[in-house]
Amino acid sequence: MKKKIFITGVAGFLGSHLADRMIGEGHHVIGCDSLIGGYLDNVPPEVEFYQYDCNYLNSMKKITKEVDIVYHCAATAYEGLSVFSPYIVTKNVFQITASVLSASISNGIKRFVFTSSMARYGKNKVPFEESMAPKPEDPYGIAKYSSELLIENLCGTHGMEYVIAVPHNIIGPRQKYDDPYRNVASIMINMMLQGKQPIIYGDGRQKRCFSFVNDCIQCMEKLAFQKNVAGEVINIGPDEEFITINELAERIAKLLDFKLKPRYFSDRPQEVKLATCSADKARKLIGYKTEYNLDKGLKEMIDWIKQRGPKPFKYHIDLEIINNKTPVTWKEKLF
Ligand SMILES: NC(=O)c1ccc[n+]([C@@H]2O[C@H](COP(=O)([O-])OP(=O)(O)OC[C@H]3O[C@@H](n4cnc5c(N)ncnc54)[C@H](O)[C@@H]3O)[C@@H](O)[C@H]2O)c1
Repeated sequence: MKKKIFITGVAGFLGSHLADRMIGEGHHVIGCDSLIGGYLDNVPPEVEFYQYDCNYLNSMKKITKEVDIVYHCAATAYEGLSVFSPYIVTKNVFQITASVLSASISNGIKRFVFTSSMARYGKNKVPFEESMAPKPEDPYGIAKYSSELLIENLCGTHGMEYVIAVPHNIIGPRQKYDDPYRNVASIMINMMLQGKQPIIYGDGRQKRCFSFVNDCIQCMEKLAFQKNVAGEVINIGPDEEFITINELAERIAKLLDFKLKPRYFSDRPQEVKLATCSADKARKLIGYKTEYNLDKGLKEMIDWIKQRGPKPFKYHIDLEIINNKTPVTWKEKLF
């Protein structure tokens, strides 16, 4: 049956792809975005779009009337920056969740799907499994995990179904690539296309697993409709191709035929060295399968960025704490 679906952060990377998928399935999609991030032209034209800040509870109450399912994707998803701009990041992670959640419950929404982050796992041993006790290491991870606790608590009290998705290191077209604070692969592509050497923090031996957005969206869709996922926390993303940031730079340089000589800067405080998630639960519950390997995903991103054209970086979020721990790349705008 066709549903009314509300997506927060619909001008963002994940939210806009999710909207496309839901529209393709014939659902009516309502979306909002404050445009603190994302791109307005990411929003599919069929979306009933409102430029609203999720912090405004009354707007959220109005917009969620008669909605069946809420995907709460909006966030200032800045893990590294959250150490230096904790107020803005936690406000647009935790506080907006309280607002969207309160509106959803008051309007009797059936299911609330929340996009958390692997930052919830912090310094746990890899691969991160959903059964591990969260140990977030930075304000972003703390705000995401606090949001999860709030969701669990309020949904338990008021009887709304919820699912916690834990996507990780997603890549693909529509990701913001002129943002100096996040999205390492997009940043590297944008820099190399401008003939600039990429910036790497620490020794570049931090390891991550990147997931292509299409693989992720397939799973996200099931979280709204499948019975067996209600109340679950589920990692969304591959557990193959666990690579270092140095290797990521090499792969991109090879695809762009770029002569690579990265610029290395000090480690960022609280950056987790090894981060990858087990996909066992996703495979079991929602049939997760990786269809895009890293090179195929990177090629699609490169084509999209080339087509839009490389862009100068915009330092659109202020640093709240500037001291000797603040990365010089941000203080001195080196991207
Ligand atoms: N991309 C990833 O690798 C990844 C990994 C783990 C978790 N996530 C989570 O998935 C969600 C989507 O991530 P994304 O990569 O698409 O990020 P994104 O920055 O592309 O999209 C987020 C959108 O939320 C909007 N937004 C922020 N604060 C808002 C507010 N107060 N009101 C309304 N809109 C607001 C931004 O303008 C932006 O368009 C986020 O919650 C993020 O934490 C993403």
